[in-house]
Amino acid sequence: MEGRRRAMKTVCLRIHDEASFAEAIDRGAKVLREGGVVAFPTETVYGLGANALDAEAVARIFTAKGRPSYNPLIVHTTSIEGARRLCATWPDTAARLAEAFWPGPLTMVLPKADCVPSIVTAGGPTVALRVPRHTVARALIEASRLPLAAPSANLSTRISAVRADHVMRMLDGRIEMVLDGGQTPGGLESTVVDLSSDAPRLLRPGLLDAAAIEAVLGRKLAQVSEESSRPDAAVPSPGMLKKHYAPLVPVHLAIDDGMEMVRRILAQGSRVGWMPLESSHLEAATSLGVERVVMSNEPIPYAAHLYEALHELEVQGVDQIVIQRPPMTGAWQAVQDRLRRAAAADEE
Ligand code: TXA
Ligand code: MG
Repeated sequence: MEGRRRAMKTVCLRIHDEASFAEAIDRGAKVLREGGVVAFPTETVYGLGANALDAEAVARIFTAKGRPSYNPLIVHTTSIEGARRLCATWPDTAARLAEAFWPGPLTMVLPKADCVPSIVTAGGPTVALRVPRHTVARALIEASRLPLAAPSANLSTRISAVRADHVMRMLDGRIEMVLDGGQTPGGLESTVVDLSSDAPRLLRPGLLDAAAIEAVLGRKLAQVSEESSRPDAAVPSPGMLKKHYAPLVPVHLAIDDGMEMVRRILAQGSRVGWMPLESSHLEAATSLGVERVVMSNEPIPYAAHLYEALHELEVQGVDQIVIQRPPMTGAWQAVQDRLRRAAAADEE
C-alpha cells in the first residue's frame, strides 16, 4: 500500500450501532485483504491483526509495535477446524481444551503446519492458536476470510490496550485502522498453554484460570520458571520475558495499603499514582499530588480494570505508581504475574 513508508493516517472507526458495525467490519476486512494492519477488540485486550498467511503483512505488525523478531505471534481463527488447518498435529489434549474453552481466552501452542510463514512463529516449529469470542473480532475474521496473526495492540514492552484511545495513543500513524468496539471486557491477555510436547505447560497465566484447564485435562500444568524466560534460543515463551507489560513510570508493589510509600514519594516532591484495594482505609488519600484509582477486591473486576488504571495514571503524568498487592492466591495468578512484570521493569 502506498504511503506506508511515511507516517500513515490511522483511521479510527467507532462502532455504536448496526450500521457502523457493518461498515467497520467491511472496511477492516478490506484493509486486511490488501495486506494492511487493523487493531480490533477481543474479549481480552485489543489485538493488532494482519493476514497470518502473508509474511509481508505480518512483518508490518512487528514494525508497528517495535516488537523483536524472536517473539512469535498468536494466530486467530473463528473455528476449531480453521485452527486445526494451521497445526501439524491435533492431540487429544487440544481437542478437549478447544471443546471446553473455545471461543474464549485460551491460546494453545502446537506443532505448526507448513502453510504458516516462519515470521509468525519467530522461526520456531510451533504456532500459537486462539479462537476469540468477541463479536467484532469474530466478524472481522469471518469477513476477511483469513486467519489473523494478532499480538496485543501496544508498543513492545508497554501496557496492552483495553480501549481504542489506548491503541491510538501508542500506534497512531503506525497502522492503517482501529476498530473502536469499546472497552474489552476481560482486560487481561489470554492464558497460553503449550501442548506441543507430552507434558502440557502453562506458558503465560491469563484470563482463563489455569485451574479450569487442569480440571479438563485431569492433570497439573507444568509451570515455566522466570529464569528460563531469557531472550535466547531456549525461550519457551518470549512474551514471558520479565521486562514486559511495563508502564512508562516506575511501579512499586506494596504489601500493605501503600500509604506510607505514597507519603515518602510525595515528600520527595514527586507526583504519585496510587492503586489501593477498596477494602483498605482510604480517607487520608486526598493530599495534593496523589492520583488515586481504587481497585476491586475481586480478581475478575480487578483484571478488567488493571490496564485501564495504568493507562489513566500514565496520561495523568504521575512520576511513580504505588500498587497495593492483592492476595497471593491462585485466582489472582494472572494479575500477580502482570503486576510483578510491571514492577520488575524498572529494575532492569
Ligand atoms: O489475549 C491475547 O492473547 C491477545 C489477544 C489479541 O488475542 N494477544 C496477545 O498476544 O496477548 P501477544 O503477542 O501480546 O502475546 C502472545 C504470547 C507471547 O507471550 C508470545 O511469546 C507467546 O504468546 N507465543 C506466541 N507464539 C508462541 C509459540 N509458538 N510458542 C510459545 N509462545 C508463543
Ligand atoms: Mg503483548
